[in-house]
Amino acid sequence: MLILGIETSCDETAASIVRDGEEILSNVISSSLRYHKRFGGVVPEIATRHHVENIDRVINSSLIKAGVDIADIDAVAVTQGPGLVGALLSGISCAKAIAYSLDVPLLAVDHVRAHIYSALMGQNKVEFPFIGLVVSGGHTRILLAEEFDRFTTMGDTLDDAIGEAYDKVAKILGRGYPGGPVVDRLARKGNSRAVKFTCRPVDNGLDFSFSGIKTAVLYHVRSRGSRLRAKEVSDIAASFQESALRVIVKNCLKALERYGLKTLVVGGGVSANSRLREMFAFEESARGIKTYFPPRELCSDNAAMVAGLAYRMHKKGVRAGLDITAVVR
Ligand code: KG4
Ligand code: ZN
Repeated sequence: MLILGIETSCDETAASIVRDGEEILSNVISSSLRYHKRFGGVVPEIATRHHVENIDRVINSSLIKAGVDIADIDAVAVTQGPGLVGALLSGISCAKAIAYSLDVPLLAVDHVRAHIYSALMGQNKVEFPFIGLVVSGGHTRILLAEEFDRFTTMGDTLDDAIGEAYDKVAKILGRGYPGGPVVDRLARKGNSRAVKFTCRPVDNGLDFSFSGIKTAVLYHVRSRGSRLRAKEVSDIAASFQESALRVIVKNCLKALERYGLKTLVVGGGVSANSRLREMFAFEESARGIKTYFPPRELCSDNAAMVAGLAYRMHKKGVRAGLDITAVVR
């Protein structure tokens, strides 16, 4: 079964053709990142305009790269949310039009769950239930996954998402946007014990809060007054990262223990982080758990994960009507 996936929830206009939920025939992404850079974050109007202007070209290109004619598409899948309302609606409207004109099923996919699925493509062995972790620019969420259409949120951020915290810390340190890859790189050269930044789980549960540590980084940098030396910048990056990621790992282990599970599936932009992967690799051998991460090219927003998860939903009989709209949160 060939599914055309469409993803427009934030700043990536993406389309992909996936066969049977596993085989990625094409994965085309046009990012508007360069237009947001000077604002230090995503500007919704700019992102939406980019989707509207580029979506036809991106879909065409995904068909050509896959060597597939549009008439061969068996279903159309689209990200319904969460995301920016205008951005989501541009993808949803396009998906509806294609599904209607081809007279094929439409599937509405949750972006957060799709991030988890990106770690499972090509991994037939994964068994339910498992704990999912999504760490991205918009989310820091722990989910209990019982089936491809049954996910329950167990922990969430009460303020900033982890990726957002990375972006803000990079900004405080005078580095570019997006900050995640920059802080990741800086931290490798730094001493994570140089500065004490605390980040704790909220109320001992599975929720997160990252606004406190972000502010602590800001105050620390301000207290240093004059320009920071390169070594200090790396030390701050490493100290922030270690403390923020530690709480994520801790909460995931807590969730696994609470539900008596051994499998953790991670997705989202921050799942590309080298230290996070290292921390989980350590826990994997220390505790006999199994962790799944997406390949680097599927960590960030893409449409292959949308088409992939849609296939699993389709097999369970899930369909969307042509009256669907964006689900922002
Ligand atoms: O999943 P994603 O592409 O978009 C959202 O759904 O939000 O995630 C983007 C986020 C950005 O905040 C970016 O700074 C972060 O992922 N990111 C990283 C790394 N690569 C991207 N954060 C930490 N370490 C990285 N290597
Ligand atoms: Zn995302």
